[in-house]
Amino acid sequence: MGVPDDIDALVDEARAAIAAARSTEDIRNVAALVSGKKSPLAAASRGLGGLEPDARKEAGRRLHEARTTIEDLVERRRTDIKFEELSRQMEDSRVDLTEFIGGSIAAPATRGHLHLVTQTRDALEDVFVGMGFEVAEGPEIETDWFNFGALNIPPAHPARGMWDTFYLNLGAPETTVLRTHTSPVQVHLMEEAVVDGGLPIHAVMPGRCYRRDTPDARHLPVFHQIEGLVVDKGITFADLAGTIEVFTTAYFGPDIHSRLRPAYFPFTEPSAEYEITCTICHGEGCRTCSQTGWIELGGCGMVDPAVFDAVGIDPDQWTGFAFGFGIDRCAQMRHQIADMRALTENDFRFLRQF
Ligand code: PHE
Repeated sequence: MGVPDDIDALVDEARAAIAAARSTEDIRNVAALVSGKKSPLAAASRGLGGLEPDARKEAGRRLHEARTTIEDLVERRRTDIKFEELSRQMEDSRVDLTEFIGGSIAAPATRGHLHLVTQTRDALEDVFVGMGFEVAEGPEIETDWFNFGALNIPPAHPARGMWDTFYLNLGAPETTVLRTHTSPVQVHLMEEAVVDGGLPIHAVMPGRCYRRDTPDARHLPVFHQIEGLVVDKGITFADLAGTIEVFTTAYFGPDIHSRLRPAYFPFTEPSAEYEITCTICHGEGCRTCSQTGWIELGGCGMVDPAVFDAVGIDPDQWTGFAFGFGIDRCAQMRHQIADMRALTENDFRFLRQF
């Protein structure tokens, strides 16, 4: 093959092929095609030998120019492609933090809310604060003294059976337990009041409690109570009953009332069980309330003088009442939750309803 007449056309063809290359692989193939051993350019160079010296010189110069142009174009395109590929890669791996992936891959974020037990605790606090109580808290790990001893429940007292306990450290230096009720917070408040001159006391104490109970529809081994304590002058059982009734109608509504039935607690005397109208049948009698029309919420009574003695308050000067009931049980009764275990299972279908 001779030298083509139109070397410009050869360059133009190469230029078009180079411009069409899209990837590193493309440009490698195109380079071989337009300037490699089998390219028209190489063939033309081989054809130079058959020319007269003058024509050969002229054609050789033009072919050299053409090769320089083509190789230049290939190099430039190669650089451009590298850059294009890099930006494509960066674009692909870019994360758009403002992107909304509606429903398909990830569900849109929803706003959470407080757990029903926390909502219930807050609502109970609100009612008592409205009645003039302060809110206090105490530790969940207690010594034997706070959980039992100061509450008139000495070691080996049969009443300890009412509060099956998780012991953390039996014996020396001091027995510690996960508190079985919020009543030990009463002891903390009274001891502090004796030191700081903080009497009288009107306080409620919400918090988590633990018992060695098997979970069932009405019991959880980890549960919540709210304790109440009033220590003042001339406090009577009527103050206790009145406080309980005002609280009951304020929290559960005007149709729900309270009643106190005689009971026994070592730290109150007299003691009572605190019951409310069954919220399921409104007092008619149903399975939930065992046909009685009443549901037990907790215990209460007048502070036993032995407890005053234990903390150093003079029972001849001061009297008081205390109560304690389940926050989880309140939530159950107010929202008619058949099985209390739903409160700990964290099933969204349940939690979302509140
Ligand atoms: N602490 C008792 C319980 O958990 C309830 C109670 C509190 C009883 C205060 C009387 C006074 O069962």
